[in-house]
Amino acid sequence: MAEHPAYPVGLRLTGRRTVVLGGGQVAQRRLPALIAAGADIHLVSPEATPSVEAMADAGEITWHRRPYTEGDLADAWYALIATSDTEANTRASAEAEAHRVWCVRSDDADAATAWTPATGSSEGVTVAVLTSRARGRDPRHTAAIRDAVVEGLRDGTLVAPHHRTRTPGVALVGGGPGDPDLITVRGRRLLAEADVVIADRLGPRDLLAELPPHVEVIDAAKIPYGRFMAQEAINNALIEHARQGKSVVRLKGGDPYVFGRGMEELQALAEAGIPCTVVPGISSSISVPGAAGIPVTHRGVAHEFTVVSGHVAPDDERSLVDWPSLAKLTGTLVVLMGVDKIGRIAETLVAHGKSPDTPVALVQEGTTAAQRRVDATLATVAATVVAQDVKPPAVIVIGEVVAVGRTGTA
Ligand SMILES: C[S@@+](CC[C@H](N)C(=O)[O-])C[C@H]1O[C@@H](n2cnc3c(N)ncnc32)[C@H](O)[C@@H]1O
Repeated sequence: MAEHPAYPVGLRLTGRRTVVLGGGQVAQRRLPALIAAGADIHLVSPEATPSVEAMADAGEITWHRRPYTEGDLADAWYALIATSDTEANTRASAEAEAHRVWCVRSDDADAATAWTPATGSSEGVTVAVLTSRARGRDPRHTAAIRDAVVEGLRDGTLVAPHHRTRTPGVALVGGGPGDPDLITVRGRRLLAEADVVIADRLGPRDLLAELPPHVEVIDAAKIPYGRFMAQEAINNALIEHARQGKSVVRLKGGDPYVFGRGMEELQALAEAGIPCTVVPGISSSISVPGAAGIPVTHRGVAHEFTVVSGHVAPDDERSLVDWPSLAKLTGTLVVLMGVDKIGRIAETLVAHGKSPDTPVALVQEGTTAAQRRVDATLATVAATVVAQDVKPPAVIVIGEVVAVGRTGTA
């Protein structure tokens, strides 16, 4: 029998009695998928791992705290036999056979009537990889094939163009701080499906080079805006391309809603009746300090962090930031777009009570090959920025956390 290939099938187990014998590592690995399938799961085992026990506590499975006894499989549709007792496993699989219950055996694939494929999923598709025959089964190989397919579907390097439901309209994608590996899986997939990409200067520019030649890549900074504001011109370009029925990705640095004008774009699209998906991104405000060895919080050092825009100086009437109050906080201040104004910012913080010795770090072009960290204090930062020629984009971190990871960082 084992010389014939297995017949692949998808079991619809919702509400159907499924018996799992043994509460160890095998059960722990298999149970989440059975729970996700909505199976009526009965675990028979005197013991269970803490994770399996938690599933029972949460009511996801019914746990019978005893060893297997004849009759446990009588009304089951499907069984997973995975106790550490080979003799009990053999008795249980004989019972499964007698009752015509499809059964997987963790200790003996030959004796099983069903095999569990290596599975993964991406956007509503389940990928299941099965070795054809019991002999020569190589679980690592099937898992590697599964990983390659699922990863390819997720990151868009494996595209199924005729069957894929493309996201209509515009996707505002947070691209992360710059390292191409720091975009989300969803963002990367949408990018791979796009006809048009309108990209900012910040963010994962390297990904644009990987796009196929038919994809139109537009530099947002270079869209001519004539009588419009630059942002209006970008909004119009998004609307125009989407109206042509194209899949448009607006690729933004970091997260679209952190000083990213994402909501303005979403509102303009909504007014034009264009569907819009927003994909969060890893914001530079947290990831860039982290990449330079600075935790924005640290136990016993900072219980809060505040992210501030420094694009206008503290005494500028357009500023919405209450700098005197920020000076009184004991936690971390993270300043974006603040390189030009850091001297005035530092002066204001000191004038309102912050110690001039407060550590400051400037992290330029974080997470990219050009990343650079420059350290200073509130007293010295203005001169340091000039002396070290620090240029935007940089994230400025002010507070004691700057000193926490200093040893061992660049
Ligand atoms: C217009 S804001 C956009 C922020 C973005 N939406 C985010 O969540 O990271 C641009 C500022 O973010 C910071 N920034 C973004 N990417 C950076 C990077 N890779 N390295 C350093 N700073 C970065 C700089 O302060 C830059 O001036």
